[in-house]
This record gives sequence, structure tokens and C-alpha cells, in this order.
Amino acid sequence: MQPQGKVAVVTGGASGIGAALCRALAERGAAVVVVADRDGAGAERVAADISAGGVTVEAAALDVSVASEVQSLVADVERQHGRIDLFCANAGIMVAGGVETPDADWNRIWAVNVMSHVYAARYALPGMVARGEGYLVHTASAAGLLTQLGAAPYSVTKHAAVALAEWLRVTYAHTGVKVSCLCPQAVRTNLVPGLSDRPVAPAEPGGASQAARDGILEPEVVADAVLAAIAEERFLILPHPEVATYEQRRAADRDRWLAGMARLVPPPPAT
Ligand SMILES: NC(=O)c1ccc[n+]([C@@H]2O[C@H](COP(=O)([O-])OP(=O)(O)OC[C@H]3O[C@@H](n4cnc5c(N)ncnc54)[C@H](O)[C@@H]3O)[C@@H](O)[C@H]2O)c1
Repeated sequence: MQPQGKVAVVTGGASGIGAALCRALAERGAAVVVVADRDGAGAERVAADISAGGVTVEAAALDVSVASEVQSLVADVERQHGRIDLFCANAGIMVAGGVETPDADWNRIWAVNVMSHVYAARYALPGMVARGEGYLVHTASAAGLLTQLGAAPYSVTKHAAVALAEWLRVTYAHTGVKVSCLCPQAVRTNLVPGLSDRPVAPAEPGGASQAARDGILEPEVVADAVLAAIAEERFLILPHPEVATYEQRRAADRDRWLAGMARLVPPPPAT
């Protein structure tokens, strides 16, 4: 899919990767870009900032973890603009920690990182299927293909996001609707405070080891990677190309891979 003339919705559009995607879509000639975010004021700021000639840029405030709010967003855009060509389910949060993490935090990250993608598909797909075209881009993470040291809730929900995107791609293949899944490593955004401006130790939440090794990308680079992938209708979007190699190594010898990852985890502090 090329963005020219398309009606696009981007969740998490007020910041980071989502804001860069909104900008890139507007610059490449989308007809409508809806900047959707829980941070309504932030979405307004991004929308005002990118109002480029000929492109309608709108802000929408919603919590993507609430089904009825995603349903309303889809209905509003379809009513006003006739259709949604591209829905980028991009909003996401980080919860670090292990199995001791309280249930409330597990439930919160599950709702934002997984159920929001279910809702995006549930409500955007019917219009797309009826028209025989449309595109869903789900932002997961390299943590959803590999793992995230120090952050079990993030790793688990991102694996689930990848699984859902794969399932959708397979299940809707015959309808004309396309699905891609974005899996970056570290990107300079507000997701992990401090990731952008200081070196991070390997097992620190936020995926520091990969960031240190493979670099922290700017959100604009990630947005370009998304547009390049959807132009080719490629499922997996890997702005850090190293991730493809890691995935192959993991699949080829899982025990060796896990042992290598374990070496990156520091021993627990002496008591
Ligand atoms: N930054 C990275 O290193 C990195 C790496 C891999 C994947 N990702 C993924 O990229 C996506 C975008 O994150 P980012 O890095 O741009 O972070 P960010 O924090 O800069 O932006 C995330 C945006 O999502 C919004 N948001 C959060 N919860 C929401 C909710 N319930 N409803 C509506 N909006 C909500 C926030 O207000 C924020 O504007 C996330 O899914 C994240 O997991 C980020």
C-alpha cells in the first residue's frame, strides 16, 4: 500500500514512533491522518504541528485498552471520511519486572499491548473486508520475537501481539486485507525514560543490551521502515536488521540461544 490519498489512523500518535508515523504519512500524501492517543493534548499538538498542505490531520483522544473507545474511533472516522485504509495499532506501554509484578500491572499491560490490537482488528476489519482492501499495522517489538531482559510483562505481551498479527495475516489473507507487524529494538522515545540519554546496563528494563549493541534508532527511521514494508506488503518490519539473524539463531538452536541470553543477566545481588 502507498500512503497517497489514504485515510490513516495511528494510535499512540502523540509521541515517539506514532508521532513520526503520522508525520511520515502526511508528508507522503495521505488524505487523512488521525492522531489518536490517550494524551489528547499531545495528539492535538502533533496534529497542529504536521498540518501539511492538502492533508486533513485530526486529533482523537481515547484509551485504546477500552473496546468501546476503539469502536467509537473507528465509527467516527468511517462516518466522517468514508473508510479507514490503514490502521496502525501502535500505542503501547512498558511494565518491567518479573513474576512478582502485581496482577494489576499485568492486567494493565495486557489490555494496552494486546487487547487494543484485538479491538483495532475487531472494529476496523469489517469495513476493510467489505471493501476488499485495507491494512493493519500492529506495533509489537523485537521483545515479541526474542525476549526483553528484566521485563516479563513486556516480553509476554509483545509475543502475544506478534501471535495475533500472524493469526490475522493468515486468516484474512483471502479478503484483500494486509497485516504487518513492527518489531524494533531500542528507539529514542518516551517509552523507557532515560533510554535515550544515557548508557544502560545489560539487564536493565528497556532492553539495554540490544540497544547498546545494535544502536538506538530515531523514530523517523522506524516510520520510514514501516512505509517501506507496507509498500511491499511485507509482514515483518525489522528496523534493526540484526533481529532477523537473532530470530534465525533462536529457531536453529533454542537451548544455545537461551544460554547465551542467560549470560547477559547479572547474578542476583549478594544478601
Ligand atoms: N521505544 C522503543 O524502544 C520501542 C521498541 C520496540 C517497540 N516499541 C513499541 O512502539 C510503540 C510506541 O511506543 P514509543 O516507543 O513510541 O513510546 P512513547 O511512550 O513515546 O509513545 C507511546 C504513546 O502511546 C500512548 N498510549 C499509551 N497507552 C495508551 C492507551 N491506553 N491509549 C491510548 N494511547 C496510549 C502514549 O500516551 C504515548 O503517546 C509501543 O507499542 C512500544 O511498545 C517501542
